[in-house]
This record gives sequence, C-alpha cells and structure tokens, in this order.
Amino acid sequence: MVILKSPREIELMRKPGELVAACHREIAKMIRPGVTTREIDAFTESWIRRHGANPTTIGYNGYKYATCASVNDVIAHGFPGDTPLQDGDLVTIDIVADYEGWVGDSAWTYAVGTLSDEAEKLMRVAKECLYLGIEQTKVGNRIGDVMHAVQTHAEQNGFSVVRDLLGHGVGKSLHEEPNYAHIGKPGKGFRLKEGMVLTIEPMINIGTYRMTIDEDGWTARTADGKLSAQYEHTIAITEDGPILLTDQGDPN
Ligand code: CO
Repeated sequence: MVILKSPREIELMRKPGELVAACHREIAKMIRPGVTTREIDAFTESWIRRHGANPTTIGYNGYKYATCASVNDVIAHGFPGDTPLQDGDLVTIDIVADYEGWVGDSAWTYAVGTLSDEAEKLMRVAKECLYLGIEQTKVGNRIGDVMHAVQTHAEQNGFSVVRDLLGHGVGKSLHEEPNYAHIGKPGKGFRLKEGMVLTIEPMINIGTYRMTIDEDGWTARTADGKLSAQYEHTIAITEDGPILLTDQGDPN
C-alpha cells in the first residue's frame, strides 16, 4: 500500500532530509586520499546523533553501519572499512536518518583526488540522470516517464542503469511501497500522485548493468568490475512540482 503524505507530514519530512543533506556537506570536506570509510562512517553516526536524529540503517535488516560506503566497482551497500581511499577512487556514501519518526535518504558519489576522464564523465552523467528524472516527477506523469528520462540519458552516453536495486517510497519507514527500477518506458507504470514521497536513486555503470552480491550478503558489485556511481534524493510529489527534501546544494 502506498502511504500518501499530507502537506503537514511533508513539512515534517523536511528536517530529516535537511540533516542528511547537511551531513553530506560535511562528508564532502572529509573526502581525500588516505581517509577510510570507517572514519567517514564514525563521523556520520556521531553527527546524526548530535543533531538529535537517528542513523536509520544501524540495525536495519541486520545492517551494522550508519552509512553504506561503495567504492569503485561497488554499486551499493558496501560496508565501511579500513582501506584508505586512494587518489582516483569513486566513493558513494549513502546516508539515512530519522528525526521524530520521519526518514530522509540520500546517496552521493564523491571523487577522491583526481579522477580519470571516464570516471569524471560517469559522475557527471549519473548526476544528470538524477536531475533529469526529478524533472519528470510531476503529478499525473507515470514512473515510466521518469525512468525513461534516466535510462535514455545514461544509455546515450554509453553507460548502463542497474536493474536489480530499486527506488522506493519513504516516510515513517525507510522502505515503503512503491518500488521501481530506474529504467522504463513513457506512459508505463504507476501514476505519480500528490503526497507521494519517493527516492530517485539511479545507479549508473560504465559497463554492464549486471551485478553480483558478495558473500557478506550485502555488497553489490558490477559483474564486470567496472565503475559505478549513484546520486539519490528523497523527493515529495506536489501539485507545485517536486520538493527535494534532501537538497542542500551540490556537496561535490
Ligand atoms: Co534509498
């Protein structure tokens, strides 16, 4: 069942969204060769708690960390760890926080030091995919309209869109209905309604869209070992257009 949010509830969802976004801005300042994703995770957990919120992913389906930290060929759900980030790495930090019962969810890919031209293009196109999708999140459009914009832009640039990890409704829970892949056809899929709060979170790969999961049961990697990038916002659908609940400018 899709849980529609009233205007008052959407107002309440601004706070966790703003906290997640502000935390991303702080993380952006930490990204450099030599820092570990464990350090970023520890910072994130304490920053979220210090701001009166809760790191939603800790204990979520047995997940242990405040962030997912997905380096290079890791698409999503990477564990924070002790390997220092290296010049040329891509790292996606995904943060979820809940504040007074409402959840915000946003992932962002960061460049570590100087990237290859190809990695830079991947980041740019993945971010463009997010915003092209968001442009289509109008009341009355269908999710296929949104994801067609995402998929077309990725594929026209020679990249692929991950199919096995889905966007989702967000509210009092991190994962609500509906769920949807980031590919689609115009006019297909569910219709966007006033009061839906959704993530748009395309994962864009340089090579194949296929993925594998590590033995840890979480870490999703590209099947060909090539790079992946992801940008995610939590957005509210309204008659006046989308509200980007996790938007605080571009932390990159
Ligand atoms: Co999400």
